[in-house]
Amino acid sequence: MNTPTQRGRFITLEGGEGAGKSTNAAYIARRLEASGIRLHQTREPGGTALGEQIRTLLLDPSQQTMHADTELLLMFAARAQHLNEVILPALQAGDWVLCDRFTDATYAYQGGGRGIDMQRIAELEAWVQQGFQPDMTLLFDLPVETGLARAGERGALDRFEQEQKAFFSAVRETYLQRAAQYPGRFRIIDAGRELPEVQHQLDKLVDELLAMQHSPDGGQSR
Ligand code: TMP
Repeated sequence: MNTPTQRGRFITLEGGEGAGKSTNAAYIARRLEASGIRLHQTREPGGTALGEQIRTLLLDPSQQTMHADTELLLMFAARAQHLNEVILPALQAGDWVLCDRFTDATYAYQGGGRGIDMQRIAELEAWVQQGFQPDMTLLFDLPVETGLARAGERGALDRFEQEQKAFFSAVRETYLQRAAQYPGRFRIIDAGRELPEVQHQLDKLVDELLAMQHSPDGGQSR
């Protein structure tokens, strides 16, 4: 008799601009893969051919008239495609998924930043995800000024990076509120420190992730 494949784990990375998510995603991925985990690295908005086209629209600085509701719906349109085409099939096959941003970013940016009613976001979340949530969310937290200075060094700014400091303060605040609201799922990393110190914090979290490898599924409804 075949033993059923254990569902993979879904890990998300969150944080403001310039938090170092990409560098640190590569670090986490190397450690997980070294432990024999089959890992898909992906991102939002994006992660599918269709989603990457939606991402191009969302980040395009020339889209100055995009309504906040349109922005919200495009985020969830890309997410629906990503979930159904990539994330859920990978998890079903027993693979792990490491995703650079997910729905917490929608609460932080469209809810906190743009001021959209959180309840409206929750309704779309329930519709698209049907209860599905990350197993663990790593929040790379750092002062807004530090993040913006780092992001500015990377060159041309996208439509979100062109926002003002008040927008990013609201984004950070919302992320921290969500971390306080869901302490079982969130881990906060002090991303304002030097890279070796950040990676030292990550080492402990990767150990915690690896311990999830053989634990029973965490009550996921999809
Ligand atoms: P990135 O810079 O981390 O690649 O993300 C692209 C931008 O998209 C970033 O500024 C945050 C923004 N974003 C939202 O506003 N809402 C969302 O739901 C997601 C996933 C990203």
